[in-house]
Amino acid sequence: MHVVLIGPPGVGKGTQGVLLADAFGWERIVTGDLLRAERDAGTDLGWEAQQYMAKGELVHDELIIAIVKEKLAALTPQTNVVFDGFPRNRSQASTFSMMLQTVGLAIDQVVVLEADDDVLIKRISGRRSCPTCGALYNESLASPTREGVCDTDGAALFRRADDEPGTVRNRLEVYRRETEPLIAYYESSRAPVHHIAGGPSVEVVQTALRNAVGLNLS
Ligand code: AP5
Repeated sequence: MHVVLIGPPGVGKGTQGVLLADAFGWERIVTGDLLRAERDAGTDLGWEAQQYMAKGELVHDELIIAIVKEKLAALTPQTNVVFDGFPRNRSQASTFSMMLQTVGLAIDQVVVLEADDDVLIKRISGRRSCPTCGALYNESLASPTREGVCDTDGAALFRRADDEPGTVRNRLEVYRRETEPLIAYYESSRAPVHHIAGGPSVEVVQTALRNAVGLNLS
């Protein structure tokens, strides 16, 4: 199954995608993480991507499509995948559909996570990430046992550079302008589109997500 997660910055796409993938052995393709890995490795691609990410703008489509293609090529067609942060505009969405079609695949479900801007801003301003295992925490909402330290591997947590207030405002605007129209685009396609409230607790949202995509086994 191929599931696309759509939602504004901070709504919980990463949090929910990790829980789903860990519980059911799915792969995750997270374009934001892939770009940050390139940047941290000091590649040309990472340097170029950083020029856009630092401003909260979308990285250009050719670069994104190339990294997604490479990731997909490494998976078997039977692999269940959750896509987080991709596609992010009409052009990426139509290229993505064509890419899948050529190997006899399609997007099976689209999940839209929704929350008010005040919730998103509060979550983003408190977000802390582990540089080693990628675990996500939140200063006010989901704090680690020891302040500033990852529960899993003891690494020092960091704040993403694009989580500064000015950049967050632009990321929200870019989401409304470029990505939100994808909801209508997918609603007129064959894949079912599920709208889920992202404001409740992590567990409540995860249950709703599993129910929506038909994975709740209990
Ligand atoms: P990306 O990394 O994808 O950022 P984003 O879409 O803005 O999403 P976030 O990672 O900020 O939020 P999230 O929804 O995953 O929330 P999270 O689970 O972390 O992209 C970064 C940049 O890369 C883009 O701006 C762009 O420049 C570039 N890029 C990426 N993909 C691209 C593409 N396809 N095309 C072009 N450019 C691209 O949760 C947030 C916080 O809230 C955490 O602290 C978490 O612990 C907490 N939290 C989550 N859920 C809950 C809950 N239910 N209750 C309480 N706290 C919660």
